[in-house]
Amino acid sequence: MSKHYAVFGHPVAHSLSPRIHAAFGRQVGIPVDYVAIDAEPSTFEEALSAFAERGGAGANITSPLKEVAFTLCSDATERARRAGAANTLVRNGDTWHGDNTDGAGLVRDLTGRHALDLRARRTLLIGAGGAARGVAPELLDAGIGDLFIVNRTSHRTDALVDLLGQPGRVHPRYIDDLAALGEFDLIVNATSAGRAGQLLHLPPSLVGRRTAAVDLNYGEAAIPFLAWARANGCHDMIDGLGMLVEQAAISFARWHGVEPDTDPVYGELRAEHARLVTAD
Ligand code: ATR
Repeated sequence: MSKHYAVFGHPVAHSLSPRIHAAFGRQVGIPVDYVAIDAEPSTFEEALSAFAERGGAGANITSPLKEVAFTLCSDATERARRAGAANTLVRNGDTWHGDNTDGAGLVRDLTGRHALDLRARRTLLIGAGGAARGVAPELLDAGIGDLFIVNRTSHRTDALVDLLGQPGRVHPRYIDDLAALGEFDLIVNATSAGRAGQLLHLPPSLVGRRTAAVDLNYGEAAIPFLAWARANGCHDMIDGLGMLVEQAAISFARWHGVEPDTDPVYGELRAEHARLVTAD
């Protein structure tokens, strides 16, 4: 049976992942069969089983399915366990092995492509869903300073803070208390608000002299937060396009055993997307 790959999410029709994986495949000479499959949390388990029966060998998982995907894995990498969320599944016999390449992809993009030094940055993470969970452990490992986490639904903040297990360094706060938190060197928007056309209400007092604002979304969805960052004098504004390409490359290497060159694929996509990045 030939091997199939897919990205699952809801909505997922506009995902760039099929295009990115096809481009990587062409680059390294591996034909890649990779499609987008729309599934809601309630139908995902069934859709994933059907995919496995058709020869599904690997899957990427996007919003809002990363946490439920993790629960469907028989085993997982340490970074996926630390996140409690999976964005990459590898078929292993009759079971799924979970990984999470989001955090490594983000750190590669920020430190490599954009040459940001993350060390000791006082960091605010907005959101506590699957995307926030994926990036928090790797940001901590990259040497950021204290990490403050806020989320519209506070019990999800608490669950993520508990999972990260660094009480002296990771602090839950209420989203309504943002104005009392002072300035941050790094602000990461890991919410899906922009994708729903909704605005986050963020006080200008979060911004300091060298604040980098990073949105894990790309395209239209990243515009509201990065426009706020620009209007309030952030030093760097970075969308999630580079992270998307980097996390895809790490997933690709897990499935096919070859590490693709991300620069040409990033360059092509960047040329088509609103120029929201000002750190490079
Ligand atoms: P993803 O994989 O993109 O993280 P998710 O797990 O559904 O998808 O999480 C979405 C995140 O965006 C959550 O942190 C969510 O907050 P809740 O936990 O309160 O739902 C956040 N979010 C979505 N819309 C938002 C809005 N309008 N304002 C603030 N946060 C929002």
